[in-house]
Order: sequence, then structure tokens, then C-alpha cells
Amino acid sequence: MHASNTPTLEPESTEPDGPTAAATLAPTRALLTQDVDRSDPALRDWVAERIRRLEADARRSADTHLIKLDLPEHWGIDLYLKDESTHPTGSLKHRLARSLFLYALVNGWLGPDTVVIESSSGSTAVSEAHFARMLGLRFVAVMPRSTSAEKIALIEAEGGICHFVEHAEQMSETSQRLAQQYGGHFLDQFTYAERATDWRGHNNIAQSILDQLGNEPHPIPAWIVVGAGTGGTSATLGRYLRLMKLPTRLCVADVENSVFYDGWVSRDAGVVTHSSSRIEGIGRPRVEPSFVGTVVDRMVRVPDPASVAGAHFLQGRLGRRVGPSTGTTIVAVAHLVDQMRAHGERGSVVTLLCDSGDRYGHTYFDREWIAAQGWELAPWIQRLETSLPAR
Ligand SMILES: Cc1ncc(COP(=O)(O)O)c(C=O)c1O
Repeated sequence: MHASNTPTLEPESTEPDGPTAAATLAPTRALLTQDVDRSDPALRDWVAERIRRLEADARRSADTHLIKLDLPEHWGIDLYLKDESTHPTGSLKHRLARSLFLYALVNGWLGPDTVVIESSSGSTAVSEAHFARMLGLRFVAVMPRSTSAEKIALIEAEGGICHFVEHAEQMSETSQRLAQQYGGHFLDQFTYAERATDWRGHNNIAQSILDQLGNEPHPIPAWIVVGAGTGGTSATLGRYLRLMKLPTRLCVADVENSVFYDGWVSRDAGVVTHSSSRIEGIGRPRVEPSFVGTVVDRMVRVPDPASVAGAHFLQGRLGRRVGPSTGTTIVAVAHLVDQMRAHGERGSVVTLLCDSGDRYGHTYFDREWIAAQGWELAPWIQRLETSLPAR
């Protein structure tokens, strides 16, 4: 990089009485005198190599499965789970982490010495720690102290450092402060999730789901049901459905101690709460900038014990554990299927299996921990078995 805004050449004046004011602005031998060149070929090579690594990783990856969950055939309702737990870092956040790093790289926000910082209740940080290591960058995750021990171990295994805060509301401010302190870059999933993902396609989750439904009895789903953490996934889906001119409706399932539902219902993005979501991965104390409420058709709120019961119910159906946020959306799905049946509607419904329940063995799948929350799951599980029987 060199600066050359100090004129080094005399203006070539043809005026016999010396240069006038106009003549000082006339072309010089360098043509322009105000010129700052910040090009840095070594940094561009560094960025190019990181992008190559991300693209190579994407090429090595396979798409995730769309699992069909049986319902009584005569209902004419087909239920699908997009199994995002099979990404190399175990959750839907693998897609987001790759997109956030790519976005930061193409924006020129990262260099070889950048410390990358993120606010995350866990899964995003697990995926970002993985990509940071792939790119040779140091990574710090700012997370609530309540984050599961399993997730902390996964972040540390990828070489990430965990920085704890007491409440979810402190995460963003602490991340900004750390970024300033270390000259680092705050990836800020809650702001950038919606714009880092290419909603036009590029094998985003929406395009993938619709492609995979291609040969099904109802290839255009009646409903897609998701949770909201950043709101990025719902934004990508809602935009893509409009872009493809599809009638499919998008339902977002929120949880207790989260304001997405209240903010959307009251059309007030300023609603906040001082409590933290008890369903890891979804629910936030403020309406995050990445939540694009205008592309959401419907919102429901699911009680926390119902979400956890949903995860246990799915364990019975799939023979493996799923995370609690998948439990939240399966309860919302059961609610929609009940209503479709009541109205004699046929069609398909798609939701996400966001992560595996193996990450929550000491919490949502631990009887004592569940009892300590004062939650009774059995009535909810029975209700789900009635709404979503296997046949
Ligand atoms: C079931 C489910 N849907 C959607 C999401 C979306 O997350 P985000 O809003 O951050 O894209 C999550 C995140 O954990 C989830 O578990």
C-alpha cells in the first residue's frame, strides 16, 4: 500500500506569467494528484485461498436427507423432516457458519490475524469454530453460562475459546467489546444471517427442500414449519417461496421467554424481555434484525414442556434423539395437521430436524433435570401420539 496524494510533479504551465489557480488543477504528468492505493495483493491471495477452502468443503459435502414420517395413508397428508443433523458439525448452523465466513471474506472483513468472535447459544459456535480452524483463524464464542457441556466440549475440540455471560441479553454487547479489545471481527449472526445466505438459491435450504420433494405426491408443500433463533432460516425460506411464486405458507414456532411471537403479532419489533429461552437454539429476548416478519405467514407459540415432549415423541418415532427445537416445530406441525384434517385438507408439511439430541443428554433427555424444571411431558406426548399416529 502506498499513498501518493502529495503532488510530486510541478504542473506543466504554458502561462508566460507562471501558474494561475486554474493551472494548478490542470493535468499533471501523473494526470491525477489525489490518489490513494490500498491494494494488498498478499491479502487478496489470502482471501482467495480461504474462499477456495470453503468451496472445496462445500463440494465435498452431500445434501441432507428429507425423511418421510408416516401418517395414516388415508389422511392424504405427508410429513417430512429435513434432517440437518447430518452436516459435519451436526446442525443447521453448518450452512449459516459457512455463509457468514464467506460473507465476511468477500466483504474484506477478515485477514490472517483477525480474531473471529460470535454470540451463540452453542450450535452456531460449534460450526463456526470448525470453519475458523479450516481457515486458520482464532475463534472466541460468547455464550450463556447455561450452554450444555456437550456443546462447550465440541467448540473446544475445534480449537475455539468459550467466553461466558450470565444472560442471553449480554451476548451481543460483550461480543462487540471483545472485538474492539482484540482488534477482532464480530460475525454477528443475529444481524447478518438473513443477508449472508443467498435466498435466490445456491443450494440453500429452501431450494434443497423443494428439489427433494419433486417426486412426492404433494411436491409443493402446504406448510413449512421452522423455529427462529436468528430468524435467518425463516427469512431464506419465505423469500424463496415468493421468488418461486409458490402458495406454500411459512409458519414460525416460537417458545416461552422469547419475543418473536409477541413482536410479530403486535407488529412491534421493539419488544424485549429480560428472560432467556429455555429451548436451546431458538427463542430470543429481542426481535433480531435477521427476523424478516413480512415473509412469515403464521406464528404459533409452543409451551416449553411441549417442545421437550416433542423431542421425546420423535425419539420414539425415529429411534434416535433430536434436539428440543425440533420438538418445538413438531408440536406446531401436529397443530397444523389437526386443522388440515378438520378442514378435509390434503397436502404436505415440512419441518426441520435441526440437531441431534445427543448434544442434550444431561438436560432435555435427563429425567431428573426435566423434573427439576417442573415439567410433565407425558400428557403432551400422548397428545402428539393422537395427532401424529404412525398409521
Ligand atoms: C427447528 C429449527 N428451525 C429453525 C431454526 C432456525 O434458526 P435461525 O433462525 O437462526 O436460522 C432452528 C435453530 O436452531 C431450529 O432448531
